[in-house]
Amino acid sequence: MEVSRQLNVPLSSVYRIVTFYKAFTLSPRGRNLIRVCMGTSCQVRGSQMILERIANLLGISPGETTPDLQFTLETVNCLGCCAMGPVIMINDDYYGNLMPASVARLLEKFGVKAVPSAVPAEVGARVRG
Ligand code: FES
Repeated sequence: MEVSRQLNVPLSSVYRIVTFYKAFTLSPRGRNLIRVCMGTSCQVRGSQMILERIANLLGISPGETTPDLQFTLETVNCLGCCAMGPVIMINDDYYGNLMPASVARLLEKFGVKAVPSAVPAEVGARVRG
């Protein structure tokens, strides 16, 4: 609303732009943005397990931000380095050839500790089958 007023453009125009471009969001993002590639090449190499492991460690689902605003978890269709799959990006850095165990070690560098009780219901259901 503030942007609409400051730029003197209709609120509907601001909303249209914000919801079209992925660079904009209507909710706050975390200090660290984690993007998990779910492209075909990464999927056949286990990106779903990587995504579930990260969601488990952070206690959030894709598209969500941790309550302390430290992490936002997103999925993307391709990060452009398919031969390194499964690939994730944390902020501006790429991490490839990941395994679920290596994800936990990687996130430890960002202050994330494994907390078994932090499993979101829908992710936990997928993990348990
Ligand atoms: S499919 Fe994952 S980087 Fe291209």
